Amino acid sequence: MVPLALLQLSCFFLLASSSAGGSAPDNDQHNRLMLDRFHRWMAFHGRSYPNDDEKLRRFEVYRHNVEYIERTNRDGGLGYQLGENDFTDLTSEEFAARYIGGLIANNDSKVISEGYVADVGKNDPSKLKIPPPPKKVDWRKEHAVTPAKDQGKCGSCWAFAAVATVESAHYIANGKLLNLSEQEILDCDRNDQYGCEGGFPDRALQWIWDYDGIMTEDSYGPYVGEQQACDLSRRAYNYLVTIESVWSIPASEEALKLAVSRQPVAVTIEANVNMQFYNNTSGIYTGPCATLVNHAVVVVGYGRDAVSGVDYWIVKNSWGSKWGHNGFFLMRRGADGPRGLCGIVSTQGVYPLVSVIL
Ligand SMILES: *[C@@H]1O[C@H](CO)[C@@H](O)[C@H](O)[C@H]1NC(C)=O
Ligand SMILES: *[C@@H]1O[C@H](CO)[C@@H](O)[C@H](O)[C@H]1NC(C)=O
Ligand SMILES: *[C@@H]1O[C@H](CO)[C@@H](O)[C@H](O)[C@H]1NC(C)=O
Ligand SMILES: *[C@@H]1O[C@H](CO)[C@@H](O)[C@H](O)[C@H]1NC(C)=O
Repeated sequence: MVPLALLQLSCFFLLASSSAGGSAPDNDQHNRLMLDRFHRWMAFHGRSYPNDDEKLRRFEVYRHNVEYIERTNRDGGLGYQLGENDFTDLTSEEFAARYIGGLIANNDSKVISEGYVADVGKNDPSKLKIPPPPKKVDWRKEHAVTPAKDQGKCGSCWAFAAVATVESAHYIANGKLLNLSEQEILDCDRNDQYGCEGGFPDRALQWIWDYDGIMTEDSYGPYVGEQQACDLSRRAYNYLVTIESVWSIPASEEALKLAVSRQPVAVTIEANVNMQFYNNTSGIYTGPCATLVNHAVVVVGYGRDAVSGVDYWIVKNSWGSKWGHNGFFLMRRGADGPRGLCGIVSTQGVYPLVSVIL
């Protein structure tokens, strides 16, 4: 049932805000259809609101966003489609405040264990005496990637990106896919990290190396989306996944491709509000975006679209599984100059090496 107050108020909102065309009955009709659509969206995403005022406010935001999505798609300028998803009742400002900005951008990419920096061709990978990487790679298909997780309202993308690289590296080395604990990193890695205010994936990997491993999510406890007291005592009787070393790669798409052909790699991008409206009907994300990196994600593959011929990265995000393609998305590869689309290679990608446990 639609509360009466909601219909009246939103009607008022529509009439008050529509300056161009349309008779009142048309607006009523439009409003009713939009409200039906909102209710279907709420049901699909299991959303409820504490009271009618909040529901009305969210309906207004939803309506505004749906209109933006439809207008943008009609204009066709993006080359891909925007769509509704779990975030369609958030304003751009709310979205940015909650899900973007979990990375403290810096130019300092040498926070890696002494003696372990290097790998895949300091400069030109083609000069390395190794076979060229395959044309396409998707580590999800090798079952080397856990489902996309949800950082919640906490700027902890740096922990999620780092942990995802360890999960995949551990699988590739040992054939065992485990959910490892972002919460442990968020609670315990306080070495120039800022918790829910942001941090660096390379330092998180460094912490795992320094502390001889990371706990599984099952043993440390579930992710709660806020920083709590670090409890390393839980480690005494629990299984740790260890890493042998932390590596960074040169900041180029060639080097990233070569590294990703071996294992998933954490990178930094500029996330912006167009990403808010990326859903599973969207194609390859092509921006627009700049290169002021503010978000950490993991590249888990790459390929080329058979129809359009557009090259892409397959990227694991930490905005839950209802965003994008089950939490993953495709980003254009080899575009927008030497820093890559959204600055994907403006900083060095990082990954851990995990040894085979004998
Ligand atoms: C994606 O967006 C389109 C257009 O808004 C919508 O029709 C579709 O239901 C959305 N898909 C999901 C899974 O939410
Ligand atoms: C990073 O380096 C660029 C170019 O040297 C500079 O313009 C920018 O201000 C630096 N950013 C930070 C956060 O230090
Ligand atoms: C990891 O956690 C997710 C979400 O709870 C679950 O679906 C998945 O089966 C777990 N394990 C692995 C190995 O992905
Ligand atoms: C998107 O997700 C919806 C709901 O899960 C599904 O019905 C639809 O087939 C999906 N579309 C694509 C293009 O994957």
